[in-house]
This record gives sequence, C-alpha cells and structure tokens, in this order.
Amino acid sequence: VAVPRRYLDIVDLAVARGVDPGKYTQGLGAREMAVAEPGEDTVSLAATAATRALAGIDRSELGLLVVGTETGVDHSKPVASFVHGLLELPRAMRVYDTQHACYGGTAGLMTAIEWIASGAAGNRAALVICSDIARYGIHTAGEPTQGAGAIAMVIRRDPALLALDVGVTGASSTHVHDFWRPLGMREAQVDGHYSVECYLDAVATAYRGWTVQAIARGLIASPGCEQLARLCYHVPFCKMAKKAHLQVRRCDAEDDGIAFDEVAAAASFERQVAPSLPLCSRIGNVYTGSLYVGLAGLLDAQAGELADRRIGMFSYGSGCTSEFFSGVVSPRAAERIAEARLADVLAARERISIAEYERIMALT
Ligand code: CAA
Repeated sequence: VAVPRRYLDIVDLAVARGVDPGKYTQGLGAREMAVAEPGEDTVSLAATAATRALAGIDRSELGLLVVGTETGVDHSKPVASFVHGLLELPRAMRVYDTQHACYGGTAGLMTAIEWIASGAAGNRAALVICSDIARYGIHTAGEPTQGAGAIAMVIRRDPALLALDVGVTGASSTHVHDFWRPLGMREAQVDGHYSVECYLDAVATAYRGWTVQAIARGLIASPGCEQLARLCYHVPFCKMAKKAHLQVRRCDAEDDGIAFDEVAAAASFERQVAPSLPLCSRIGNVYTGSLYVGLAGLLDAQAGELADRRIGMFSYGSGCTSEFFSGVVSPRAAERIAEARLADVLAARERISIAEYERIMALT
C-alpha cells in the first residue's frame, strides 16, 4: 500500500466549508482524506506500492504487469510502462493498463488469475496494481470523498494472502452516466445520488450472479451472505459499504421470501463489513484501489481469525461494470500482511491545514 505524504482531517474540511462535521464523519463515514501533491502522481504511487509488494520476491518470476487506473498520465503510454521501467522489471513480460473507472484494477486481477488458472502462465506470477487520485474539486459535494493511493498485489499459485475462487463470480454492467471524466478535464463529473443508485442496482445483480455460481460449485448450500465470514465492498466513502451491505441483505430476504429486517442487517454490517473500513476512512476514495484498501485493512486487523474462511468482495466501476467474487484467507495471511507495515505507512503522513490543501489543489 502506498499513500500520499499528506492528509487532511475531515473535520477541518467540514468546518472550512461551514458544514456540520457529523455529515462527513457520520453521514459519509470519513475521518481523514489523502491529499496528493503534483509529484505524487499515479506512477509514483504505483511504483512505491509495487516496490513494497515485491520485497523478498524474485522479480524474474513475473510475466505480467497490469495497472488498473482512471488517472492515466498519457493518452497512449500506460502507467504500467513507467512502473516497468522504474522497477527494472523483466523484459519478457506483458505490460499494460486496464480502464473502466474504479473496476480497472479488478479487470487486471481477473485477467491475472484466469491467466494463471488456464496454465498459460506456467510458473510465472503477475503484478497487479491499482493506482488513482480521486479528485472532484473544492466546494463540490464530492469534495469530502476525495483521496489517493495505490495497492500492489502479487498474483501467483499458492497465494500467501487469499486464494480466489476462480470462475465463481457475478458480473453486472449497464450503460449509465453516473460518473465520468471527459478528456482534458482534471476533475471528475458525477451525478452523486444517481451514482449511489447505480451502485446499489449493480451490487444486487452481481451478488445474485455470484450466489448462483457459488451454489453450483458447492461453496455455499443456499443463498445467504451470512455464509461469508466477511464482505469487502468498493468504498467511495465508508457509508456506501453500509448501503451496499443492506442491499445484499435485502436480496437475501427477498430470495428467502422473508421480510427484510433492517436491525438485523445493521448488526450484520457491524460484524461482517465494518472491520474492513478503518483504513478506508483514513485515506478516502482510491477509485480502483478502494476495494483492495478495504481488503488490506481487514486482513491487517483480522487475518489470524479469518484463516481458511471465505470472504466476499464487490468491485464497482461507474459507467458501469461490476463484479462480486470470493476467496479464502490463507493461514499465512497474517504474517504476509504484517510485511505491508500499514500502521507505519499511515503514521509517516503529515496532517495539513485547509490553506495548504487548497494551495496543493491549485497546483495540480
Ligand atoms: N449528521 C449526520 N449525518 C448527516 C448530517 C449530519 N449533520 N447531514 C447529512 N447527513 C447524512 C445524510 O442523511 C446522508 O446520509 P444517507 O445517505 O444515509 O441518507 C449523508 O449524510 C450524505 O448527505 P447528502 O446525501 O445530503 O450529501 P451530499 O448530497 O452533499 O453528497 C454524495 C453525498 C452524493 C455521496 C457526494 O459526496 C458525492 O457526489 N460523492 C461522489 C460520488 C460517489 O462517491 N458516488 C458513490 C457511488 S459511485 C462509485 O462508487 C464510484 C466511485 O468511486 C466514484
């Protein structure tokens, strides 16, 4: 995991905007927001995360590098190409970016696991990186949901963190204009409330698609997300994960033909989802990386107790495409995630004032 060196306290932002801090802290679930300065672009964040992920790994094993991003630095040359050069990775490998809003990293991850599962990879491994700068601009409704960072993942046979259930996924795609960034524009355009509706519509279809596959493969006996030890969602802001989980529970109730119990669903959110959110609440939206920031935070907090247990994941990319998938936490996960030193990465950051944040926003 890599994050910018500076962050803003979300209460400072609320006070500066004349908003009740409760709206940002309780209403959106935010605490802090990463602020990237001009030198901390998608390439540098990706390269930093990749350097950390590859510590102790033989780079000659790599045969594929995919960067999922919607904050490219060039219309033609991918972020992956810069990272490949900076890290002096092997020449004999495929190197490219994938883009579909916040789903781009998951596209790379799915390509990597299916490449390995097909046998085409042989003994080679893949490096998948999600790197983004979420930017809506100052004085916008999206301002408190900005953030930045990168996550790098090594995908290989015999994984140390999580063994994905290859081929057991549910996808949902529709052509909608909920969030987009026209060529040449720095800031994302978003129809905020509509984007929440699109996300909730997508999670219902994708989750039900996964359920059908998971039953067919014998991973679960019948519909019901209680059979998953934890669920990680794409987290544009933390409250969205709660809305998503209530939607999943609503699907379960409908499919079981029973009344939706909101109190039980809220308790299930605290148990199954909340442990993945503290890290997200301190970084903000990382677009492609947000789901995986949540996953990293969850494993950092609970990998020991989750060993050999299955968790569910939902990736959403506006526009839109999405996927619900699952995997089993490795018994070695606690040891491996400790190497990411997440507490140190966050502790090294500097809190900045609103004036400094606005100065940086005007520069980039
Ligand atoms: N105390 C506690 N809670 C308060 C409050 C207070 N004083 N004042 C308001 N709230 C609550 C509201 O009730 C609301 O909660 P619910 O959603 O549970 O009802 C919450 O705070 C937010 O209030 P509003 O809906 O009034 O906020 P808003 O209209 O100003 O903006 C937003 C919210 C639309 C999410 C906006 O931040 C935005 O546009 N964000 C960017 C878009 C986004 O993140 N979309 C998510 C889905 S798309 C996606 O996931 C892809 C991606 O990464 C972008």
